[in-house]
Amino acid sequence: MSLFRRKSLDRVTEHEEGRRLVPTLGWPHLVALGIGAIVGTGIYTLIGVGANLAGPAVLLSFLVAGIVCACAALAYAEMATMMPAAGSAYTYSYIVLGEVLAWIVGWSLILEYSLVVSAVAVGWSGYAVGFLQGVGIDLPTALTVGPHAGGALNLPAVLIVFAVAGLLIAGTRESATLNAALVVVKILALGVFVAIALPHFDATRLDPFMPFGFAKTMGADGVERGVMAAAAIIFFAFYGFDAISTAAEETKNPARDLSIGIVGSMIGCTVIYMLVALAAVGAMNYTVFAQSPEPLALIMRELGQGTAAKIVAGAAVVALPTVLLAFLYGQSRVFFVMSRDGLLPRGLSTVSPRTGTPIRTTLFTAVFVAALAGVARLDEIAALANAGTLAAFVAVAACMLILRRREPNRARIFRTPMAWLVGPVAIGGCLYLFVSLPVRTQLWFALWNVIGLLAYFAYARRNSVLAKAQDA
Ligand code: ALA
Repeated sequence: MSLFRRKSLDRVTEHEEGRRLVPTLGWPHLVALGIGAIVGTGIYTLIGVGANLAGPAVLLSFLVAGIVCACAALAYAEMATMMPAAGSAYTYSYIVLGEVLAWIVGWSLILEYSLVVSAVAVGWSGYAVGFLQGVGIDLPTALTVGPHAGGALNLPAVLIVFAVAGLLIAGTRESATLNAALVVVKILALGVFVAIALPHFDATRLDPFMPFGFAKTMGADGVERGVMAAAAIIFFAFYGFDAISTAAEETKNPARDLSIGIVGSMIGCTVIYMLVALAAVGAMNYTVFAQSPEPLALIMRELGQGTAAKIVAGAAVVALPTVLLAFLYGQSRVFFVMSRDGLLPRGLSTVSPRTGTPIRTTLFTAVFVAALAGVARLDEIAALANAGTLAAFVAVAACMLILRRREPNRARIFRTPMAWLVGPVAIGGCLYLFVSLPVRTQLWFALWNVIGLLAYFAYARRNSVLAKAQDA
């Protein structure tokens, strides 16, 4: 039994050939889909964490993370259109890199999806608590933040996870219309923020621009800072675009629409994010909002704009749950595919005959994710989620390059432009972001994978459906 046994690419596409979805989407739909899943806690909350690590140069952190993500996104699009099968990075890796690496990618995706849900729930809670305060409802600190901030439990974060899990269990899928409406809400609120904060721009606040340097360096207070340290966290703000590649099959003109959809939503988000960051660091000294659980609303309040603060907070409260829905759904799909392949216990891929949803898996994930959201620090969970995502992105870019060599003549609905530049930039950029994460995060990630590999050798390797088929 080889560690690197691979699934067949032909079978994946054959299997899908007979059941193609109706192509109805154009690039504007894809841009909306992408921005809907991308814009969330990253820009609404982690901008403060980033400013704390990079100073005004957090602007550069957004640019670096945006470029790396755009390159990874192009590789994703090529893979997604060649292998329109569930499981994204895990499935591509199973076909191209072999089982053990696919396992590591799948195991990383489990980490990513779970922790994104926890992190976005904590970000949502910050705005929800601030919003309630704004309308005169004060919740006790003990129930609004975790122990690290002097509370006992972040109850709103726990509740929102269960609320979203409940929707998923009931069979709710993202609706294109609701998504489009919420995209407008999210973007308009950011527009209101920029329109109000930018006139207060004062260039002296950008000086010194890079107080903590470019590369990650350890400060006297034991915190690793610098533009790259911030980029490694800010990276969180950019992902979620796999939502676009999974819609590849439904796209009318994939070659054109996917490139416009992916590159468009990446460029769109990078521009929006940089404008928001420029407005934030120009309107207020970054130290004022760096530690806030709701930095954008805080800046509005500090500028004497109470109504705008409520609009921004209200938009975050209403629109961030779509990001939760997308990632919690993604989580159950990864479990589902890995379990169908025999690498995780079969019970994880059973769906309720009544609702057609994996009730047990969703509940199990929700309990774990809610527990973490209740007590953990946002920046720490976001950093670990990023580690998992970076591993998946490296794998996808590597798959794209390897398949170009291994099967140069296979039809590609979407071809990454300048693949031999874009692929290596994605891989190198992700690795640089990974080393820029806090050392503690890297150790947690290593530990997670050690546990994963133990599980692989103890269970998955022997129960793999592919192994059984090849041995038979
Ligand atoms: N990009 C998503 C967010 O910022 C995960 O919330």
